[in-house]
Amino acid sequence: MIHFPQLVALGYLATAILFIFGIRLLGSPATARRGNWLAAVGMLIALLVTFVGLGALPWAAVIPALVVGAVLGTAAARMVRMTAMPQMVALFNGMGGGAAALIGADEFIHRTGELASGVATLSPGSSVPIVIGCLIGSVSFSGSLIAFSKLQGLMRGTPVTFPYQRAANGALLAVIVALGVVIVAVHASIWLFLAYELLALGFGVAFVLPVGGADMPVIISLLNSFTGLAAAVSGFVLDNEVLIVAGALVGASGTILTQLMSRAMNRSLANVLFSAFGSQVEAAGEAGEAGDRSVHSVTPEDVAILLGYARQVVFVPGYGMAVAKAQHEVKELATQLERRGVEVKYAIHPVAGRMPGHMNVLLAEADVPYTQLREMADINPEFPRTDVAVVIGANDVTNPAARSNPSSPIYGMPILNVDQAEHVVVLKRSMNPGFAGIENQLYYDPRTLMLFGDARESVVRLLAALKELVPAA
Ligand code: TAP
Repeated sequence: MIHFPQLVALGYLATAILFIFGIRLLGSPATARRGNWLAAVGMLIALLVTFVGLGALPWAAVIPALVVGAVLGTAAARMVRMTAMPQMVALFNGMGGGAAALIGADEFIHRTGELASGVATLSPGSSVPIVIGCLIGSVSFSGSLIAFSKLQGLMRGTPVTFPYQRAANGALLAVIVALGVVIVAVHASIWLFLAYELLALGFGVAFVLPVGGADMPVIISLLNSFTGLAAAVSGFVLDNEVLIVAGALVGASGTILTQLMSRAMNRSLANVLFSAFGSQVEAAGEAGEAGDRSVHSVTPEDVAILLGYARQVVFVPGYGMAVAKAQHEVKELATQLERRGVEVKYAIHPVAGRMPGHMNVLLAEADVPYTQLREMADINPEFPRTDVAVVIGANDVTNPAARSNPSSPIYGMPILNVDQAEHVVVLKRSMNPGFAGIENQLYYDPRTLMLFGDARESVVRLLAALKELVPAA
């Protein structure tokens, strides 16, 4: 017969395996959905086993909490727009950090005995993880709320900076660490702990304020790794193995993702954290006016002729495709071109859009076959033998200044070499810059044709024009 502790251990083992395989499957768009389901089943098992096996709480409290959580989570996931996904992740991540901090605070109050007595002793073995977990969890909580507010437009997205900001933030962190040492080694007072928590929350705000709104996805990923770390530390506090495993997985994957994103933008994490990117690049954008150079504006009918008689066409989606929600129409355009014998591929830049995997998710939603999606390293050698590269709401990830202009803020960022294709067609609404706030030389290239308008409307008009063409021979 299996006893409760064995049931708990078995359940936790199953959960850890499901989490690990879930994350593994998330590595490819073809298996990501299955990976998500596996991890969700793992989480359900962990919750049930914890509540049943440990008898931690009465069912009358557990079931309503599960129902409310499931309803809120499902509604948020279904209702949120793809372009608003980063802020939803920020909000959910903040909840995780806050929960980890609350677990630590609860344990501290519990272990220091009577709240009213104010002072008590605590062994360093238990106080060290509590103090560390509360610091990281609180920073993640308040930092994520600031990230959410910037992305949601509840506050200014530009970096908030002031003189000696880094020194002030460093001093605040030093005070927090000193207070933590006092709490662990000298005086485990509830009031000191409260001050420590408030300062940690303040540090989370101060940490994220100088980062520009557009760099938020990188910060959210970093805060995500903080939350994982805080959860793992909570696992030590509560002596709960599955929390340690899940926290370590989140912490490690968040750290790897943060590094990947920084590398794909050719920026160090320190540059993302401290360079207040949005502020100087706006200035760069203003400075880089188009001057009297002209661009070649075309009609959908012109582009339809170019595409309809091409051999190979590469679509290059970017943030504008997400804004215009044009992915279904783009897929339809690809299908029409394939019927005419044109070979169609999609070039995926690792930081196109505003969140990791943004383009993969949108194109998967439109049922674009995974085999047509090409990563940057695979598609770049193909541009010289591509007849038309169609840039759909992408800008920075195609900007040749990243290769050729050492003074450009994006110099060194690997880009999609669309300028090497025989023709380039750019679908965007205006000459406005993209995320980096700088003008794109590509638009002035004699081989580049600009099709101005909302990407979705342009593709719809292109489709209509394509149907008017005589079938290809
Ligand atoms: P961007 O450089 O931001 O350019 C997007 C372009 O889309 C804009 O120039 C805009 O021009 C156009 N656009 C907007 N709405 C449109 C619509 N409805 N129809 C047609 N065009 C529209 O995008 P990108 O090339 O995808 O590059 C992503 C940038 O974000 C990179 O600089 C990257 O470093 C940064 N970033 C990415 C991530 C991740 S993880 N993906 C995270 C942080 C930062 P108009 O206004 O003229 O239409």
